[in-house]
Amino acid sequence: MKKIVAMILVAMLALAGLTAMAETLTMCTNVAFPPYEFYGEDSEPTGIDVEIAKAIAEKLGYELEIVDIEFAQCIPGVQSGKYDFSAAGMTVTEERQQMVQFTDTYATGIQVIIVPEDSEMASLDDFVDANGSVKVGVQMATTGDLYTTWDYEDEGKGTVDRYTTGAAAVQALLAGKVDCVVIDNEPAKNFVAQNEGLKILDTAYAVEDYAMAFAKDSPIYEDFNNALAELIEDGTVQGIIDTFIPAE
Ligand code: ARG
Repeated sequence: MKKIVAMILVAMLALAGLTAMAETLTMCTNVAFPPYEFYGEDSEPTGIDVEIAKAIAEKLGYELEIVDIEFAQCIPGVQSGKYDFSAAGMTVTEERQQMVQFTDTYATGIQVIIVPEDSEMASLDDFVDANGSVKVGVQMATTGDLYTTWDYEDEGKGTVDRYTTGAAAVQALLAGKVDCVVIDNEPAKNFVAQNEGLKILDTAYAVEDYAMAFAKDSPIYEDFNNALAELIEDGTVQGIIDTFIPAE
């Protein structure tokens, strides 16, 4: 009897030890960017970034915790070590590479322009030509914000209104507060499908690569990136992308 109790005790301790060993990786993102991150039917975050991150965490034996914050806070949060990494449909840019290190890229994005369905404008410059300037809506601190700020606001050709989410920028467009919204193509398709009276212009604004961001001194960066590379190699990543972006 004593022996059995001892054995059970040992087993319980071992189990407790194992659960304690599964460390948590904290991922920050802005969960308002479908199909990369959004709240699923069960009110839990899901999407391409979330499922890829889950697959990597599982491969490496970590628990994954997802923290929903403003996009503008993702890079500072990673840099300061508050979060282990960010997966947020984040574009690799030279400026960001000064602040964080990026994994291999796992997806491509295109900055597109959403306008009212009845608009006759075919580009941002058409607005400038017709009205003398363009009013652009963007999600704050995104590449859509950076590029239109450089190309239009800084050039005196327009103003850029910055919203905390892409969805809020789209609401401003529907309310007539801005002429157009510049945002990544897949979220754009989602927002146009969810709201009546909008369309996406054929003229793309910029093509970019998405990657996950880590602090430059992150101790897990290499393992994480190797795991990602393996999941790209074995088709897992493409499988995840295909479930969220059905072929047209
Ligand atoms: N690709 C753009 C960027 O890196 C937008 C990303 C926005 N992501 C999000 N989860 N809201 O700036």
